[in-house]
Amino acid sequence: MIGPLTIYFFSGTGNARNVAHWFAGVATDKTIPAETIDIAKIDRKKILPPPPGSLVGFISPTHGFNYPPAMMYFIFRFPKSNGNRVFLMNTRAGMKLSKWFLPGLSGIALWLSALVLFLKGYSIVGLRSIDLPSNWISFHPGLKEKVVASMYERCKGITVKFAGKILDGKKVYTAFRDIIQDILITPVSIGYFFIGRFILAKSFYATDACDKCNICIDNCPVKAILTVDNRPFWSYRCESCMRCMNNCPKRAIETAHGYIIGIMCLLNMGIMIWFWQWVGRFITIPAGNGWAQAGVNITGWALTFLVMVISYRLFHYLLRIPVIRQLFYYTSVTRYKFWRRYRPSRKMISQLP
Ligand SMILES: Cc1cc2nc3c(=O)[nH]c(=O)nc-3n(C[C@H](O)[C@H](O)[C@H](O)COP(=O)(O)O)c2cc1C
Ligand code: SF4
Ligand code: SF4
Repeated sequence: MIGPLTIYFFSGTGNARNVAHWFAGVATDKTIPAETIDIAKIDRKKILPPPPGSLVGFISPTHGFNYPPAMMYFIFRFPKSNGNRVFLMNTRAGMKLSKWFLPGLSGIALWLSALVLFLKGYSIVGLRSIDLPSNWISFHPGLKEKVVASMYERCKGITVKFAGKILDGKKVYTAFRDIIQDILITPVSIGYFFIGRFILAKSFYATDACDKCNICIDNCPVKAILTVDNRPFWSYRCESCMRCMNNCPKRAIETAHGYIIGIMCLLNMGIMIWFWQWVGRFITIPAGNGWAQAGVNITGWALTFLVMVISYRLFHYLLRIPVIRQLFYYTSVTRYKFWRRYRPSRKMISQLP
């Protein structure tokens, strides 16, 4: 008999939370005591070791081909095992083309966390990705409600089957099917961790439609939104989980595509060229030397990061000026009506079998 079940989950827009609840529902049906814990609502530093014999689960979205830092750091700090069994799941950016369901890409999400938990003494009994609708609406419009519902129905069935096997004491490693593509994408997941996520975190802004209700500030799972100049300001704590943008009741949060493209052009066509010409006046970078090239790359990324930090402050300051605000608004593709927001409604989920 499997012992009590504790599932720790992190979720931006609800997909991972629903998977956690579906899994726990199967445990309850089998009369196994089950608890789901949202790691954003607890003191992550005060977790006690799981009782001997208990089953532990971690469920989180995939961000940049890895678990988001909030979940990663949680697992890194998680207490050592008392010989417990553990399973890991990630929700990914599923899509639907005609009647075909397309999978997302996990990268190192499950593998890195599984390795850390294995080294802490846990026995890994399950690894499974779940392809729920993509919530990354900075890049594409949210999927249609009908499509979302059909993906939910499919994924609930997959989760229930997986949970049944794990709770019957079996081992299920479905994630191994994707291991080659997951390993190949590792350099991108590293790039996203060190730089990509910071650029994305600085792509949000609130338009004139914002009525300062503070819902985004109060509901951010990592408390990343501050009030600066009497308007929301996205700090570097932001995990780009998309909760704020998808849930703003006034649809006032946009992704500043015009600003991001402008900064990238300025960096690549102006600042970088000027910077390396200036450096060239003092030192000569030897061609074909690997270390020198690595130094150039690291310096390039550091400069990009610095420019992003300064320019977002400037961008936020410029938003005070109505004409500039309009300029950024009209260069944000997320403002168009057809650019749907993503929000799996509770009503839709409870209608599912
Ligand atoms: C910033 C960001 C990065 C993402 N990166 C990936 C990714 O690398 N691979 C993938 O399959 N899905 C990716 N997604 C999609 C989400 O993982 C997916 O929609 C997930 O189900 C959302 O779960 P949640 O509703 O619990 O937040 C990304 C989404 C966001 C917002
Ligand atoms: S939730 Fe929307 S309307 Fe409310 S403060 Fe945030 S951006 Fe403004
Ligand atoms: S600021 Fe928005 S996108 Fe960033 S972590 Fe908070 S809710 Fe998520």
